[in-house]
Amino acid sequence: MTSGVTLALATVEAWLSGRRPLIAVVLGSGVGGLADRLVDVDRLPYGRIPGFPGATVPGHAGELVAGVLGGNAVLCQSGRFHPYEGHGQATVALPSRLFAALGIGQVVLTNAAGGIRRSFAPGTLMCIADQVNLTWANPLVGALVPGDTRFPDMSTPFATELIALAHRVAGAGGIALEDGVYGGVMGPSYETPAEVRMLERMGADVVGMSTIAEVITLRALGLRCLGLSTITNRAAGLSLTPLSHADVMTTARVAGESLGRLVEGVVASLHARDPHAL
Ligand code: HPA
Repeated sequence: MTSGVTLALATVEAWLSGRRPLIAVVLGSGVGGLADRLVDVDRLPYGRIPGFPGATVPGHAGELVAGVLGGNAVLCQSGRFHPYEGHGQATVALPSRLFAALGIGQVVLTNAAGGIRRSFAPGTLMCIADQVNLTWANPLVGALVPGDTRFPDMSTPFATELIALAHRVAGAGGIALEDGVYGGVMGPSYETPAEVRMLERMGADVVGMSTIAEVITLRALGLRCLGLSTITNRAAGLSLTPLSHADVMTTARVAGESLGRLVEGVVASLHARDPHAL
C-alpha cells in the first residue's frame, strides 16, 4: 500500500466508524444526484482526506458519501479527479486504491461520454463492454507498489457477470441499455471531427475523459468493475451543435433518473447475492 493511501485510509476508516461498504459507486459529470438515492447518509468532504485534492470541475461535488442503497452499504465517490485538471496518475488512482484498502470488491463507475456510434443519441445509457486507453498514460507506471500486479490482465476490464446483471436489471425496469466500447482521451478540449473519425476506426463507440485510469488500477488490485456511460451529446462532427459542458451536464441530469434506478437495482441485486461471490 502506498503511504498516500495509508493516510487517507486512516481518516476514512475513522469516519466510517464501523460501516463496512463492500461496493463503491463513482459518480461522473452531472450524475451526482445519484447520491440522493442513498439513505442513512454521512458525507466526508475531500478537503478532510489526506492526499485528496478538492474537485474542481463544475458538476463534481468533491466528497465521499457513505450510505445505504438498495438495502446495501455503499461508498460513493462524488467527484473524481481527471488527468486534464493537472492531477498526476497517482492522484487519479487514489480513490480506487482506497476502495481496495477498505476491502471493497466491486465498483460501479459512471461517466458522461460523447456518442460516436450513430444510434447513440443524447440520453442513451451504455454499459461499457471494454475500453481503449488513448490518454497515453497509465496509473501503474513506476516502481511496483506492494500488492499490485506488474502486468495485470486486462482481458475482462469490466466483469462479465456485472454486465449481465446490469442488463437484467435494465430489462426488468424497462430501461434501454446499450453495450459499447469507451474510448478514453486526455481532454480537456473536446475532440475535433477528424479525431472522432479516428476514434471510431480505433473501435470506440463513445468518447470521454475519465474512468480509464480508475479501471486499470482497480483491475490491477483485483476489484470487479461495472462501467455505465450516459451519452450526453453526439461526438464532434456528428451534430451541428457545438459541444458545451453545460449541455453535457443538463443531459446527464435528465438521464440521471434512469441511471439512478439502474445503479440502485444493480446494487440491490449484488446484496441479494454475496458481493464477494460474484
Ligand atoms: N468528448 C469527450 N468527453 C465527453 C464528451 C465528448 O464528446 N461528452 C461528455 N464527455
